Amino acid sequence: NSSGTLYEAIGGRVKIERLVQAFYKRVAKHPELIPIFPDDLTETARKQEQFLTQLFGGPALYSEEHGHPMLRRRHLPFPITPSRKNAWLECMNQALDEAEVDEPYRSAIFERLTMTAEHMMNTPEDEK
Ligand code: HEM
Repeated sequence: NSSGTLYEAIGGRVKIERLVQAFYKRVAKHPELIPIFPDDLTETARKQEQFLTQLFGGPALYSEEHGHPMLRRRHLPFPITPSRKNAWLECMNQALDEAEVDEPYRSAIFERLTMTAEHMMNTPEDEK
């Protein structure tokens, strides 16, 4: 039951799909991010839809298929510097606009993703 969740409030599955599309379209073109992402982002986007659905209080689609998220550990193979973290958040910020995620949910989501993104950094700027 996902009533009363952020997931439900923003418009559920259709909105998450729109947000994730808008996000990876930007990731695919961002010079800081291209080197660490696969060329084909189809599977990456599918996993992100599952993860965000779950993060926002919808069905636990990510864990059902992949187990515990352990996001920091899953990101360790990729050198995530402060500038890549900023690039990720810049793409997400623009994607939230394009997907028309309305306030107050937009700010709540961006704040939450900012904290998660900061937790994902694993490489100093000069070691990438
Ligand atoms: C996977 C980069 C932050 C959620 C990945 C992958 C990369 C990446 C390179 C692997 C893509 C693939 O092989 O398919 C980054 C960078 C971040 C960042 C540079 C900047 C801080 C985040 C945040 C979240 C997140 C904040 C959650 C809101 C995920 C998920 C996956 C993923 C769910 C798929 C994990 C899996 O393989 O099951 N990320 N990420 N990432 N990322 Fe991030």
